[in-house]
Amino acid sequence: MITLTLAEVAAAVDGELVGDGTRTVTGTVLVDSRAVAAGDLFVALPGERVDGADFVPAAAAAGAAGALTTRPDPALPCVVVADPVAALGRLAATVHERLVADGLVTIGITGSSGKTSTKDLLGQVLAASAATVSPQGSFNNDIGLPLTVLTADAGTRYLVLEMGSRGPGHIARLCRIARPAIGVVLNVGSAHLGEFGSAEVIAVAKGELVEALPAGGTAVLNADDPRVIGMAPRTVARVVTTGVEAPADVRATDVVLDEQARPRFTLQAGSEEHPVALQVVGVHQVANALSAAAAALAAGMTPPAVAAALSAAGPRSRWRMEVTRRADGLTVVNDAYNANPESMRAALAALVQLPGRRRVAVLGAMGELGPGADAAHARLGRDAVRAGIDLVVSVGPDAIGVHTGALAERSAGTGTSSDDAAQEDGALDSVVHLPDREAARRLLAEELGAGDVVLVKASRSYGLEQLAADLLGADGAAS
Ligand SMILES: Nc1ncnc2c1ncn2[C@@H]1O[C@H](COP(=O)(O)OP(=O)(O)O)[C@@H](O)[C@H]1O
Ligand SMILES: [Mg+2]
Repeated sequence: MITLTLAEVAAAVDGELVGDGTRTVTGTVLVDSRAVAAGDLFVALPGERVDGADFVPAAAAAGAAGALTTRPDPALPCVVVADPVAALGRLAATVHERLVADGLVTIGITGSSGKTSTKDLLGQVLAASAATVSPQGSFNNDIGLPLTVLTADAGTRYLVLEMGSRGPGHIARLCRIARPAIGVVLNVGSAHLGEFGSAEVIAVAKGELVEALPAGGTAVLNADDPRVIGMAPRTVARVVTTGVEAPADVRATDVVLDEQARPRFTLQAGSEEHPVALQVVGVHQVANALSAAAAALAAGMTPPAVAAALSAAGPRSRWRMEVTRRADGLTVVNDAYNANPESMRAALAALVQLPGRRRVAVLGAMGELGPGADAAHARLGRDAVRAGIDLVVSVGPDAIGVHTGALAERSAGTGTSSDDAAQEDGALDSVVHLPDREAARRLLAEELGAGDVVLVKASRSYGLEQLAADLLGADGAAS
């Protein structure tokens, strides 16, 4: 962060200063007292189970310069506010405004799927050209976004921000903390459909990003998604389009997957064409890479530099199409970070591309889909069988719809009832439902071996990333 005195912090957040206002924050701003180091500002968040304000003495012992908190504590100089989350946002807004005045370029990314993947690509591409800050993990909300902003300093040229949305108004609020000059909208799908109600409402909410852009800014819109390209009239910024299918300013042609399901394509921008070979897995990453490319071009990079940096960018965040080979030759694809119909489709498409003796999909439920959830689970089971997956294992009561969908498709496909198609001589049925992770672990430990490729995917709350780690044993623990 840029160096601020506690008096400046108090002024920025309109808080009451209790203690020595000349103390200077020289370190970072954080909300976890266990991570505090000398010179940091500890933000004490009220939580459901613990109150951060109780940890101000611990932060003091670890060397914090001060605390942003709801009540004064003699252990540290405190800036006292009623709402520390709102104050954190205001502090980030003040710092962001100063940095932008000094030339910082901020790029915001939103969409239903692929925000983290795209920010990881874009962060690496921009870093090839100048000092770049991009979020850790999925820091994309009212706490993670300002904390990310506050890690930028006078040396930072590019700031990449992931902007998540749980409802109308959220992205607009994040843009008031850090108004981007470049805004990227990836897609409008069914993530959090239950909370939003409809895809139209999601499109309205995601479009808040392009509405916040300034006249001199750039909106990067995915022309392959009608709801995204439909946002063009909502911005005063210049619009740059990306597309694999549709004609667009920044395009991918000649898309192929290599033997590890990593996409290669030709990046076309204006009259220039450059080959790209991604290090990340799955054809869905082409759209993410194009969005990152268009944003980097808007930020001033050249097409050959962007193509080279995209090809060098590795996977950064865990549990997103993380491909690991066990010593005995079993391949585990851990995509258990989250799940919705679009990302399930993308993951199955990648799975069938991976070479192996047998392809196995271990699928848990997709959360937060609202009233369409049953139909979506049934469709997933059907699509898995149609895609040619050799063994479809659904896990947990909420995923029972996947099982029934898979059974229905199999009997439709073979012209037999599911009973007729069942196992012979103790061989495992090709469509299996298991009650929980432990049952899945036991069955898969016995069943899987060299040459098999297994995808593990579900919404995060079902904890299947642990199943993937268990399958990998010591290999999983080490990575
Ligand atoms: N463009 C995309 N279209 C469909 N699915 C995607 C796309 N990009 C990533 N995914 C999948 O969506 C899931 C979440 O990816 P992530 O990058 O973490 O997105 P987000 O941050 O938007 O939740 C992963 O399973 C990933 O493989
Ligand atoms: Mg994310």
